[in-house]
Amino acid sequence: MANEGKKMGDQRAEKLGKILVIHGPNLDMLGQRETSLYGTSTLKEIDEEIKSTAVECGFNADTFQSNHEGDLVEKIREAIDGYDVLIINPAAYTHTSVALRDALLMLDIPIIEVHLSNIYQRESFRKQSMIADVTTAQIVGFGKDGYPMAVRAAADMIGKAQSAKRQA
Ligand code: DQA
Repeated sequence: MANEGKKMGDQRAEKLGKILVIHGPNLDMLGQRETSLYGTSTLKEIDEEIKSTAVECGFNADTFQSNHEGDLVEKIREAIDGYDVLIINPAAYTHTSVALRDALLMLDIPIIEVHLSNIYQRESFRKQSMIADVTTAQIVGFGKDGYPMAVRAAADMIGKAQSAKRQA
């Protein structure tokens, strides 16, 4: 019975809107990697917080991580029809990838770029994001807290789009 209730809740969240969160290379090593910069939380812990924040807001979030540029491109393409908002931290590919930029240009949904560190206070090559001008918004420098912030912002965007649709 409890399971049935959960299933129905999941179905409702599914209908209401879906958020895709993509993590780029080396973010699978969070918790062990440059902890003074990126913090001690693991990606698994961050993903759990992303999903629970989405459910709190009445939506569903899927998460995906890859160290491979082509896999990231293909995952971005899944958002063309399947998702209402994309949240992406392309990690090092932020600064190099025309392929990720081109994939993002195919999307007609809001895109939120997230970075754990403040890339504008770091080495000069990190100050340039190849995707910043094709995204809707950027959240940088809040560490892992940037992700639940992005999910709440995404939920707000979906809510506004849905009420605009109802009024049309
Ligand atoms: C990062 C910043 C990038 O410059 C770096 O390559 C990363 C993480 C961040 O979240 O702060 O891997 O995207």
